Amino acid sequence: MSLSLDQIDLLEDTWERAVPHDQFALLRAEAPVHWHDHPTFQGFWAVTRYDDVRTVSRDHTTFSAELGSVFLQDMAEDQLELVRMTILNMDPPKHSRFRRLVSAGFKPRMINALMDHIQELADGICDELEGKDEIEFVESVAAELPLMVICELLGVPVEDRRLVFDWSNRMVGAQDPDFRVTEEDGEAAMAEIYMYCDALAADRREHPRDDIMSALVEAEIDGDKLTPEELNMFFVTLVVAGNETTRNLIAHSMQAILEFPELKAELVAGIDDDALWASATEEFLRWGASIHNFRRTATVDTTIGGQDIKAGDKVVIYYPSANRDPDHFTDPEVFDPRRTPNDHLTFGGGGTHFCLGANLARAQIKTMVRTFLRRYPDVTAAGDHRRMRSDFVNGIKYLPVSLNNHS
Ligand code: HEM
Repeated sequence: MSLSLDQIDLLEDTWERAVPHDQFALLRAEAPVHWHDHPTFQGFWAVTRYDDVRTVSRDHTTFSAELGSVFLQDMAEDQLELVRMTILNMDPPKHSRFRRLVSAGFKPRMINALMDHIQELADGICDELEGKDEIEFVESVAAELPLMVICELLGVPVEDRRLVFDWSNRMVGAQDPDFRVTEEDGEAAMAEIYMYCDALAADRREHPRDDIMSALVEAEIDGDKLTPEELNMFFVTLVVAGNETTRNLIAHSMQAILEFPELKAELVAGIDDDALWASATEEFLRWGASIHNFRRTATVDTTIGGQDIKAGDKVVIYYPSANRDPDHFTDPEVFDPRRTPNDHLTFGGGGTHFCLGANLARAQIKTMVRTFLRRYPDVTAAGDHRRMRSDFVNGIKYLPVSLNNHS
């Protein structure tokens, strides 16, 4: 049965089943800027073509991140006040100041040292699997490396990484009944992160170390510093932004490998081919975009892709749709590990909010998937995977695999 525009539904139940590529194909072809009702909140414009997603991302004057936040759901004013203290929900000039200060914390030397360490961490994760046959890939592999990296980055002791895991699940899991998270749980998680960050920051003020927390505590541009509250809110952002996203991308990469045996064969045969792994990593990113969308709010009456938009309207940009736009990518439905160029929009459309952790995420995805496949080249699926119910995070909750390790 062919799909029609009145059947379009981009809310959370749809994503629990699959990424709705059929709906996106219809929208790009027939209604690239489509009005979508919402049962509880004000409706929104769904923007699905590559060029339009990029235009919205790059024009922060017309499409504000701050006016109504970057999340699809409307918020009460007091909640909005709070999220506006996080970098994603700021417009310039507030955003420019904040980004300059936190970028001072992401010192290249520190990030490079961490990158060098990623291989060791990935080896350790694979060592833990020795002697096992069936494993649950998300918990045993995909979640581990991003958690360890974010802990190292922030200076959280690695033994506390389950705390970080739990906080981020509670903060993004509200729409999925499996996570049994209430709104109060999300708020409690945020309060816990706040307290933890306060204690960590106090320690680093007294005893500076070579980690980002020390650098953030000290970061100063023209006499301007992050306030303790701003530091806490950035810590919250990093716990979620650097963790769930990378975990899910590693899980989606493994799922693609399990789905396409010829891809697995090519990656295993080319396990030492750096160029292949660099391009395959970009294709994993295009394929498994781990955030479905971000929202902007129109500041003035405007048009996108020929569609009139009113000031105050919500405009929601869909990254997985942009990544499969046939006007931009040749054969977008084909997973091509050698696709070059590959200017996917998984880290954003290139505006002021472009992902601060993109290179760190790339290094983790490549190293984790490559190391795992080097050690367990005969891996196969061991049952069905389960997806997260969320209209925001492209999550895989459960991915059972057999290692088939007969060595
Ligand atoms: C595969 C993993 C990741 C994906 C798919 C991802 C995706 C994104 C996207 C789509 C944005 C918003 C871009 C925009 O609005 O134009 C973003 C922003 C951001 N990301 Fe990532 N991200 C990933 C990993 C990371 C990591 C590892 C970190 C930190 C260690 C990180 C930190 C941030 C921060 C701080 C922002 C806000 C930047 C700003 O508002 O100026 N991300 N990310």
